Amino acid sequence: MDKSTKNIGLSISNIDIPSKFFLAPMAGYTDHVFRSLCRDFGAGLLVTELVSVAALSRKISRTYRYMQYQEKEKPLSLQLFGDNEDEYKKSIEENDLSFYSFIDINMGCPTKKVVKNGGGSALLTDTDKMISILKAAKSASKIPVSVKIRLGYSRGEGGYIERALALKEEGCAFISVHGRYATDMYRGTADWDSIAEIKQALGDFIVIGNGDIKTKEEALKAFETSKVDGIMVGRAAVGCPWIFQELNSIFDESINYKKISIRDLTIKHLKGCAELYGETSGVHFMRKFVMKYLGYTDLDKNKKVEFMQCESINDVIKLLDKFNIN
Ligand SMILES: Cc1cc2nc3c(=O)[nH]c(=O)nc-3n(C[C@H](O)[C@H](O)[C@H](O)COP(=O)(O)O)c2cc1C
Repeated sequence: MDKSTKNIGLSISNIDIPSKFFLAPMAGYTDHVFRSLCRDFGAGLLVTELVSVAALSRKISRTYRYMQYQEKEKPLSLQLFGDNEDEYKKSIEENDLSFYSFIDINMGCPTKKVVKNGGGSALLTDTDKMISILKAAKSASKIPVSVKIRLGYSRGEGGYIERALALKEEGCAFISVHGRYATDMYRGTADWDSIAEIKQALGDFIVIGNGDIKTKEEALKAFETSKVDGIMVGRAAVGCPWIFQELNSIFDESINYKKISIRDLTIKHLKGCAELYGETSGVHFMRKFVMKYLGYTDLDKNKKVEFMQCESINDVIKLLDKFNIN
């Protein structure tokens, strides 16, 4: 591994990305508050939660909540999903997307709601349709368009190299590959051997690998065996945004580690959520993150549960004080 500082990031379509470790889009988690915390710790490309082109093309107001961002998030990618070419074009042409560095098309989401409407991983069953959607988005977009895929819809069906090659040939900016099939949902383990095959087949084309990376050791092994250009990290970053500084240290041993304070992080995250969702909803929304943050303390289960009763920022701060969480 080349550990010189200049290689900590990568450049795609002339856009400088500060780290080879991207934050995976995760609906219900990766709002601008959490993404910004990850950027503070050195995350590379950030991606919004998935945004429906059916809604965006009709300018449905609540859709714009998923598109909010903070200045520090640049470079940020906007992830779109849907199965209708005209809706992609309309969404891209009729909305101000100038802050975003990429549009990413979701061709991997396995959830019923998305698949039954022909979007997400349903597209993996029809390469012509994948390409037609990529073409439509590219024809409307002033910014580069990337695609996030899984290996396929059902395990054993093959075709992942052909699909990836087709995306490359159609001028996709880069692809991110989650090493599972849609029918796996999140079961089993990500298949990095297949990701490696895709990278090998695509040569210089940028491939970002994704799936199950939780530690620096796993990331190093994934880079060495698959030769991917970057790695996208999802679940391991939830409640642990500082994972990015540890991962970045693979390429830069002199990295300046920021000190982690569970108390400060929890309060900062909480305040951001209160601003975005309103105080009560923000505090409720934060419960899943608070439990993860508390996992890094030696607080026992009964005390952790007390945090689940909090209704305000002050309630949380009082408990942090009571249990001496720093
Ligand atoms: C709660 C949750 C929400 C997700 N939402 C999205 C999404 O909006 N768009 C997307 O492309 N992938 C989504 N994913 C998949 C992740 O981006 C990623 O591919 C997957 O979690 C595997 O990476 P990991 O093992 O590092 O978590 C989601 C995953 C989870 C767990």
